[in-house]
Amino acid sequence: MIRIVKGTDSEIHTFYELLRIYFPYYETSGELFLSIETIGDIKKAVLVIGEDRFEKDFNFKDEYEAKRAIASWIVRDIEHDSKEDCLWGTLTGTRPIKFLQKQRRLLGDEKTKAYLIDEYLLSPYMADLLMDIALLESEKTDGIKGKGYSLYIHIPFCATRCDYCSYPTIRSDNLDAVELYMDYLLKELDYVLGTIKEDPTTIYIGGGTPTSIPLPMLSKLLDRLTNLKPVEFTLEAGRPETIDENLLNMLKEYPVTRISINPQTMVDETLKRVKRPHKSEDIKRAYDMVRELTDFEINMDLILGLGDEGIPEVAHTFDEIIALNPENITIHVLSLKNGSKLFENEGVYTKNIRRMQNYSMKRMDEAGYHPYYLYRQKRIMGNGSNIGFSREGHDNLYNMIMMEEIHSVLGVGMSSTTKLVDKKGKTIRKFSNFRNMRDYTDRFGEIIGKKKRYLGDIL
Ligand SMILES: C[S@@+](CC[C@H](N)C(=O)[O-])C[C@H]1O[C@@H](n2cnc3c(N)ncnc32)[C@H](O)[C@@H]1O
Ligand code: SF4
Repeated sequence: MIRIVKGTDSEIHTFYELLRIYFPYYETSGELFLSIETIGDIKKAVLVIGEDRFEKDFNFKDEYEAKRAIASWIVRDIEHDSKEDCLWGTLTGTRPIKFLQKQRRLLGDEKTKAYLIDEYLLSPYMADLLMDIALLESEKTDGIKGKGYSLYIHIPFCATRCDYCSYPTIRSDNLDAVELYMDYLLKELDYVLGTIKEDPTTIYIGGGTPTSIPLPMLSKLLDRLTNLKPVEFTLEAGRPETIDENLLNMLKEYPVTRISINPQTMVDETLKRVKRPHKSEDIKRAYDMVRELTDFEINMDLILGLGDEGIPEVAHTFDEIIALNPENITIHVLSLKNGSKLFENEGVYTKNIRRMQNYSMKRMDEAGYHPYYLYRQKRIMGNGSNIGFSREGHDNLYNMIMMEEIHSVLGVGMSSTTKLVDKKGKTIRKFSNFRNMRDYTDRFGEIIGKKKRYLGDIL
């Protein structure tokens, strides 16, 4: 177990993250303690890793500087058999590009890169990758910073539950629940669209599996959106078995521009093992049908680290996906959280994620895809990152907007989050809807109340 036995709230938070990254073994086994005590103008840090003890005194004038110095000590100076190396240096947090954009504004590009390498001990490779993504994002989103808004609509239904999933989902064969949920969802959507007269810049319908609900219910939702003119409109159709001619012919009537078909892996044995009830052939069938019947852009989600997969399995998946040639490929690294079956059954620490992630970067590059957005998750395996790749000219705007908080994103539906960004591009408020159906419907008045109170801040 990793324990921070003494320290300020901010130190406890930062150093837990950092120690988890560098000493992952201790997250679930053994004993690792860190204590940071302030004695006058000294911060006394003591780190105990199993039987080994390290300590150092740091001059303390400024909390931030002291924290940075202690982080560098742990990352650069502590030597221990159990320590993993890591390309991220001392940079923790889920939105590294947002941090980078702030530094670029303060220091300019050259100095920001040097700062990442010298102060945050990032590998030059990682610093280059982050800088490339930050520059691309600026180019695509500076013009809409603090202007307009995007709409996220959440459909929490799935036919069955995949073993690694920790999202709150409801079975789509519970038609009473679907009907009840959609009634409330439409009420919330009507309130938002009735309050904000402007069209959203982008729309994203995510889940769950939005295409798992009966078509008439999905079309009732899409009817509400049909007169809007977003520059981009994504519908997640994650599970291929939900994609058929009827669905696609219906979607063509609406302003949908992009669809997500998610293999996660193209290895049938792994799909079976994680209880994802489709085969790689179903993915190809669904993909071909979308290409044949529509001109939608296609995104495909993958996860590294499922089952016992190593490089040969990942290579097979890339061979198959690259041959299909979707506009976007989003590569996630498995992250096991409470709420997923796998988390209960398996340890979190194992597997060669770093090699798989490096391999995937190489394959994407060779196939002509570039990274356009990146984020990290808590409990992500091997300290990897989730990276969205794109073919030239097909970067998904919604993903960049949402991740970097470029403008307001209004969330509608259970467990959706609303982020309000002011005209200067500063995030001024975030709030989430309830994460379960009972609260979402029973306490619906509170949800509308919050929207009533705060949407005015961005109008
Ligand atoms: C919000 S999920 C919904 C997608 C859709 N329901 C599906 O499964 O195809 C979006 C993506 O997150 C990724 N994801 C889900 N659970 C994950 C986990 N435990 N670790 C890493 N990525 C995960 C998957 O690639 C998934 O397609
Ligand atoms: S991973 Fe996707 S399809 Fe599977 S249960 Fe979770 S939300 Fe549903």
